Amino acid sequence: MTTPRSIRLGTPLSPSAAKVMLLGSGELGKEVIISLQRLGVEVVAVDRYPNAPGHQVAHRFHVIDMTDAATLTALIEQEKPDLVVPEIEAIATTALVELERQGTATVIPTARAAWLTMNREGIRCLAAEQLGLPTSPYRFADSLDELKAACAALGFPCVIKPVMSSSGKGQSKIDGPDEIEAAWNYAASGSRVNAGRVIVEGFIDFDYEITQLTVRALKDGVVTTHFCEPIGHVQEKGDYIESWQPHPMPSAALEKSRHIAKKVTDELGGLGIFGVELFVKGDMVWFSEVSPRPHDTGMVTMASQRQNEFELHAKAILGLPVDVALVSPAASAVIYGKHEAKAIAFEGVAEALQVPGADIRLFGKPESFARRRMGVALATAPDIETARNRAKEAASRVRPVTTG
Ligand SMILES: Nc1ncnc2c1ncn2[C@@H]1O[C@H](COP(=O)(O)OP(=O)(O)OP(=O)(O)O)[C@@H](O)[C@H]1O
Ligand SMILES: [Mg+2]
Repeated sequence: MTTPRSIRLGTPLSPSAAKVMLLGSGELGKEVIISLQRLGVEVVAVDRYPNAPGHQVAHRFHVIDMTDAATLTALIEQEKPDLVVPEIEAIATTALVELERQGTATVIPTARAAWLTMNREGIRCLAAEQLGLPTSPYRFADSLDELKAACAALGFPCVIKPVMSSSGKGQSKIDGPDEIEAAWNYAASGSRVNAGRVIVEGFIDFDYEITQLTVRALKDGVVTTHFCEPIGHVQEKGDYIESWQPHPMPSAALEKSRHIAKKVTDELGGLGIFGVELFVKGDMVWFSEVSPRPHDTGMVTMASQRQNEFELHAKAILGLPVDVALVSPAASAVIYGKHEAKAIAFEGVAEALQVPGADIRLFGKPESFARRRMGVALATAPDIETARNRAKEAASRVRPVTTG
């Protein structure tokens, strides 16, 4: 790992260009790219399918299987970006570790952070065992029998998740031993790779959960940690449907949250934004997981903050100072595709924009699924409750329709 440094900005598509490669070009990557474009950075967007949201706003794009180490290495060696920015977890991160070790690539925030956080086992063991942070009790299992033993040890209810999955894929909460086998089979179906290994977590009966966006950025040449206001959110089937900022918290819980966020992000190192997921009950706080990149619940910052999470990430990784100030309470509500179809259209956008304080983002994904996130409604308001109602109202007015 090299010491974080600033990147000199230049002219895109010329020898002076500062060049950044995004690995994963979904809706979050698209916004990071837009922020980089505003600083004249040359951006190369990579995804596994053509015309991904970020592909549409980059200088050029590539379609590759990012889980294939040889393909990924060849592309990075060919493009020679100043920075490689993972935007998703499903990447051959061991290739990134090797490229960083050789000095061929600078990975954001670090190759080790990308590698550790792509697997629940890596980050959980680091947080709980090495850093001593409070987490749910947990066990790992490689077979149905091991899973039964793990569930018996932890008790019910518990949550079963493939070690390699995101967005709630393959995840179930179970209330008793008769549900274990179905959860095992479901986990195998939702796992990205290494089908079979799962984590079982004791269920935390939290009052609410938050995302603590935490930015490591250079200030006068020194890495400094900045905390955004906490983001509250609602998850359904492991997928976020609604978020808001700031989420009111007792000062003791907020202090603990930031202490946890600081410890884990200090350990992961590098520059950039991190989404630290925490469970809160009264003054108690548990670490759940961390993404070393912008967080989906943080889309609310496109309405609430002076510099949204994507701009914070873009500035931080380039070695520029950041401003995490909140300008207004705000909320976000997800717009799902509702159809299994290519090239859908959206009606009701004008009606959605009639909602006071509301705005809409449509991601431009070429194919829709019933539960695929196709856009998001944002809304500001003097208070969180009103902002949430406005965002939900605006989202509900947008009607995805099939065409042709
Ligand atoms: N041990 C637990 N106790 C209570 N609730 C939990 C537990 N683990 C997960 N959850 C709930 O399930 C949600 C998704 O879990 P988690 O963040 O681990 O999965 P994920 O697949 O990484 O999701 P994402 O990629 O959307 O963050 C959490 O935000 C929380 O609402
Ligand atoms: Mg999560």
